[in-house]
Formats: sequence, structure tokens, C-alpha cells
Amino acid sequence: MTTSTDFPIDETSRARLAEQSLTMRLVDPSDPDDHAAWFHAETRGFLGPTPPDEQVEARRTGFVAGRRLVGVLDATAADPATPVATTTCWPTDLTVPGRRSVPAWAVSGVTVAPTHRRRGIARALLDAELRTAIALGCPVAVLTVSESTIYRRFGFAPAALARDVTVLTRRVRWTGPTPTGRVHFVSPEQLREVGHRIVERVRLESPGQISYEGHLWDRQLGLAVGDSNAMNLRFVRYDDADGTPQGFAVYQLKEDPSDFVEHDVTLHALVATTTDAYAGLWRFLLEMDLVTKVSAHLRPVDEPLRWMIDDFRAVRVNEFDHLWVRVLDVPAALTARTYASPGQLVLAVDDPDGPAAGTWAIDVDERGEATVEATHEPADASATATALGSLYLGGVSAATLAATGTLTGDAARVDATFRSTVAPYLSIWF
Ligand SMILES: CC(C)(COP(=O)(O)OP(=O)(O)OC[C@H]1O[C@@H](n2cnc3c(N)ncnc32)[C@H](O)[C@@H]1OP(=O)(O)O)[C@@H](O)C(=O)NCCC(=O)NCCS
Repeated sequence: MTTSTDFPIDETSRARLAEQSLTMRLVDPSDPDDHAAWFHAETRGFLGPTPPDEQVEARRTGFVAGRRLVGVLDATAADPATPVATTTCWPTDLTVPGRRSVPAWAVSGVTVAPTHRRRGIARALLDAELRTAIALGCPVAVLTVSESTIYRRFGFAPAALARDVTVLTRRVRWTGPTPTGRVHFVSPEQLREVGHRIVERVRLESPGQISYEGHLWDRQLGLAVGDSNAMNLRFVRYDDADGTPQGFAVYQLKEDPSDFVEHDVTLHALVATTTDAYAGLWRFLLEMDLVTKVSAHLRPVDEPLRWMIDDFRAVRVNEFDHLWVRVLDVPAALTARTYASPGQLVLAVDDPDGPAAGTWAIDVDERGEATVEATHEPADASATATALGSLYLGGVSAATLAATGTLTGDAARVDATFRSTVAPYLSIWF
């Protein structure tokens, strides 16, 4: 059986880049030199420092099964062994509405060296990845972005937003539920297994989450080799009244050198399987002595925190796009999720030369399950492929998309079908 790692390189893009005397090929992670050159290129592409050898090797051995690396090489460069462009992609499980998941092609590590930019290399790589995803049977592709201006042209659109929150803790009095369990300090090693089990237990709760392990999980814990910030991290686990772990938080403290009572907490992760654990961990963070501010990155848009303290305005919020989705196989993608209300919606998708194009009859039964088929019936609404990407997880309203002109027709009906009762959320970068 062909797997994502041995699936051949996309011939169309390979030939297109060969016209520029560039070689697009798979990188072999079992070959330390081949992998190291690719990893140095990717790190350089993201403006990072040159990684030490042990970090390069740890990344190589920490790759999860199915991770595919692609490099573009320029034989005329002074350093012809280091790729001038990179991607890495792998199959993951994307949570969709209905507490279920769909196979998704995670696209990451997209870089083109500044010496080779704006000559179509990224386009060749992205086109290749989308064709590869389709060939491997992934109905959607997903990514998180450095710049939100790049990926719309490839049919991706924001489907899950996220928030940075800053809490001015001196203004906070806890009014939420009184936690019944306990907070324990633990080491990252103590959290490695139990923390991952907690992450897995909540994964199906929010559309937009993806399965992750290996390096992506180690990075959350500061356990990735070469993580220069690791020594600054603190780890707490929340156990319920029966002593069962139900959540954890990873944070760091920063001192104000001019005033010891003005420490800042930066919260890197807070994952809870119960409201009790959620309240217990947040309350622990907000009531710490010598701390005036807690800043948290990548929090859900429907975080209950502000309803658990007496001063709503003690929390400042900055919202941004986070998970971008590209629908590649409309029937497979749309039947993978469930829908809020029964009935039929005929949706025309405008995707010039793209795989989502067509008019699709979406028939939702009483249980919220859909059958989706191509149809010649008149459409109730029309959407661009990017609008479909935003609709897919149920977090962006059709009314909003209608205002942008990317959706026309009966937006209320589209909303009645597509909206999710749970706001989509992805808790990591990848
Ligand atoms: C973003 C990046 C990969 C683009 O590579 P590239 O080879 O220069 O891109 P291409 O020449 O193939 O351009 C493809 C299209 O994207 C557009 N584009 C490229 N980079 C863009 C950017 N940063 N912002 C907006 N549009 C961009 C091009 O104008 C072109 O548009 P068009 O074909 O519709 O006219 C490259 O600049 C890079 O490595 N940046 C730093 C790392 C990074 O941010 N990677 C993205 C990770 S999510």
C-alpha cells in the first residue's frame, strides 16, 4: 500500500520547477545528511537561528509516522545541498462538528529562500501538496499561517479563530465555580503521558483540533531538544476530588526588575477535560501572589473565563485567524461532519479549475447525518471555495460571508445547516 511518505513527488510541479533548472524531490528522513540540509533550510526560511546538531537529529527521529518532507534544490547555488524551498505535510485527524474527525492533510514548513522568492516556487509546492492530498484520500487540507495574505489564492480560508487574552489580575475577584480538586506542581516528564491523554480526551470536543504527538507535543512541554526557553516553564496538573488528572497548565513567570510584586505570567497551555478543572487551573493562575498580569496565547474564542470573574473588563482580548481549511473533496468532507437541522440545502461552489467546483445537494436527516451528491437542481446559495472552507467547521457565519460577496443566496438557510454550537478551536501551531 502506498503511504504518504513513499507516494511519488507530484510530476506536474516537478516538471514546472525543472523548467527553472530546479529539482523538486522527496527528502529522506532516514538519511541524516539529507534531513539536516532540509531542516537547516526550513529553519532559515522561518528566519530562525542555525540549529545545533543535536536539535537537528532530535527532530529527525521525532517525526511522526507519515510525515513527508519535500525539498527544492538548485544545483547552481553556492551550497547546492541545502534546499532553496521546503514543505512538510502529513495526514492528521481534523475534528469536525458532531464529535468526529475527517482525514486532513496538514501542510507545514512552507518556505522559499529569500534568494529564490517570487518566481512561482511556493505555488508549485502548494499545488503539488493539494494534488497529493487528493491522491491520498484526504478530503481537506489544513494549515496555520505566518501571514494571512498568502493562502487564499490556493483556496484556503480561516475556519477557526483564536484569541490572545491578557488578564489584569489585581482587578479580578473569582466568581466562578469553586474547584473541588487540587493543583499539583509536576515535572514535564510527569506530564508527558498523562498530559497527552488529557489532550486526546478533549480533542473531539472542538471542531478544528487536530491529532498531534511527537515533536509538536514535546514542544508544548518544553521537552523538544534545543528548546532554549525550557528552563523558564512551570507545569501544573489538576486532579479532581477523586485524584484523577483532569487538566494541566504550562506557564512561565517574568519578573519586573524594578518591582518584585509586578510579575507577569505567560500561559502557554491550559487544557481541561471538565469545567471543574478549567476553573481550578484558571483560578490558580489568577490568584498567584506577586503577579499582576496573565497573558495567554491561542485561547478559544468562547473561553468562559470572563464569566467567572467579577470584572469583565479585566480581560483584554485580541482575536486573529488561526486554522485555515481548504476543502478538496466536497462529498467526503461534508458527509464527515454532522449538521444542526434536517432538510436539504443545494450549494453551488465556485472553485475555478479546483476540486470543490460543482453544485451539491446536501440532504440532512433527523440525526444530523448528511448525504451529499452532485445535482442539477437550482442552488439555494452559491459560495466560493474559500467561503466553503470558512463554513466547514461551523464557526464563520454565512451572513458574514454574504457581506463579503463570497456567498450569495439564502445565507440564513446556509447558517441553519452549517453553524456549529461549539466554536471551532485549534490549540497549537503546526
Ligand atoms: C511565503 C513564501 C513561501 C512565498 O514563496 P514564493 O516562492 O515567493 O511564492 P510564489 O512566487 O510562488 O508566489 C505565489 C503567489 O503568492 C503570492 N505571495 C507570495 N508570498 C506572499 C506573501 N508573503 N504575501 C502575499 N502574497 C504572497 C505571490 O504574489 C504569488 O501570487 P500570484 O501567483 O497570485 O500572483 C516565501 O516568501 C517565504 O518563505 N516566506 C517566509 C516563510 C513563510 O512565511 N512561509 C509561509 C509559512 S505559513
